[in-house]
Amino acid sequence: MSNIAIFASGNGSNAEAIIKYFAEDSQDHVVLLLSNRRGAYALQRAANHGIESFVFDRQMLYDNTAELVAVLESHKVDLIVLAGFMMLMSTPIIELYRNRIVNIHPALLPKFGGKGMYGDHVHRAVIAACECESGITIHHVTEQYDDGATIFQARCPVAKDDTAESLAARIHTLEHEHYPRIIKQLL
Ligand code: GRF
Repeated sequence: MSNIAIFASGNGSNAEAIIKYFAEDSQDHVVLLLSNRRGAYALQRAANHGIESFVFDRQMLYDNTAELVAVLESHKVDLIVLAGFMMLMSTPIIELYRNRIVNIHPALLPKFGGKGMYGDHVHRAVIAACECESGITIHHVTEQYDDGATIFQARCPVAKDDTAESLAARIHTLEHEHYPRIIKQLL
């Protein structure tokens, strides 16, 4: 039996897909959603499903981590899942959860990753490079952006007339299909 905490900064469609998947699971549960943005729609989605949430700021993540660590420990969190989390995870949390933090990236790493490569920036770069396929990468989290070992990749075609929006929609479908079940496999 494992407890999952999700970190999300924005819309939270992946967070919700994971929450829904584990609502049906008798063993593993999403116990907490954490966000660095008070207005993140992900927080609303968590509330809609009765999932507790916690909002933190930059200082709590990087300088004064005791409160954040206490929140994770009081919820007996076993696995941290990043789902559209826009900050670099801090060293104390990485050390505490070594090999137990995963992220999803909306492209086929190692291509189109690193600092500044998030959201539509990724899809625009894929289209500008005339790639004929893109996809998703689920990977372990280290102190650098999009750098940890790959756990899983899935591919999808890039159409000639794709826009960042149409490609993002195709990638989101892939993410919602695979991220929850890969998390379950990891547990
Ligand atoms: C996803 O495309 C994910 O790959 C990336 O950020 C996006 C978050 O989307 N890390 P959402 O907030 O889950 O809708």
